[in-house]
Amino acid sequence: MTVKAKREPSVLLNPADLVTDFDPDAGLAKPDSTSVRRLRDLGGMFRDQAAFEATCRDENPLVYTVQVFSPRDHEGDLSLGFGRLEPGTVGDEFYMTKGHVHERTEMAEIYVGLRGRGVMLLRNASGGHTRALDLSAGKIVYVPGHTLHRTVNCGDEALCYFGIYPSLAGHDYSSLQRIGFDAVVIRSPEGPKVLGKGEELAVTR
Ligand code: F6R
Ligand code: MN
Repeated sequence: MTVKAKREPSVLLNPADLVTDFDPDAGLAKPDSTSVRRLRDLGGMFRDQAAFEATCRDENPLVYTVQVFSPRDHEGDLSLGFGRLEPGTVGDEFYMTKGHVHERTEMAEIYVGLRGRGVMLLRNASGGHTRALDLSAGKIVYVPGHTLHRTVNCGDEALCYFGIYPSLAGHDYSSLQRIGFDAVVIRSPEGPKVLGKGEELAVTR
């Protein structure tokens, strides 16, 4: 018996949806969606609650912007998120993203550092300790499935990066509340430090 190859729908019907300009600093010319996180969106995530409240009292500064390029979202498709994380601290802790694990937890992601100085915190969603990896300009970080991931700007300029992931991956922020990251990235006189359970962690470069 001959099995006929299944015809896939053409994805080239509207080529204009498949290409966009981007700038490593400003992001995508034609994002399909944009989201903005301000400091008050990150309540409970910084270790110094008093510093958080003091910083939020009179203003609500921009912490990060994510622009998504997602021409199609069927099984097998890919999306790209351009992230721009502003420089800043709450107390001595650097600005960071919320962090998440994918709803489809098995789905991985590739991060590409475009500009600035940053660190990615990774933690296995079933436990184990947090690891810190360099996500500065020129670095690529592979985030395996089943892994909580967060980006931290530990420099004095914006940290810009791409995350490329399956369009159906989804974001689960509730596991973050249950598991969290057992490490923080802080400013110190000797430079940025990653502290896990009181001891300094090495950043894998
Ligand atoms: C997508 C992805 C990134 C993040 C972005 C913001 O899977 O990992 O595009 O969404 O860095 O971080 P969150 O989503 O944790 O606020
Ligand atoms: Mn992700």
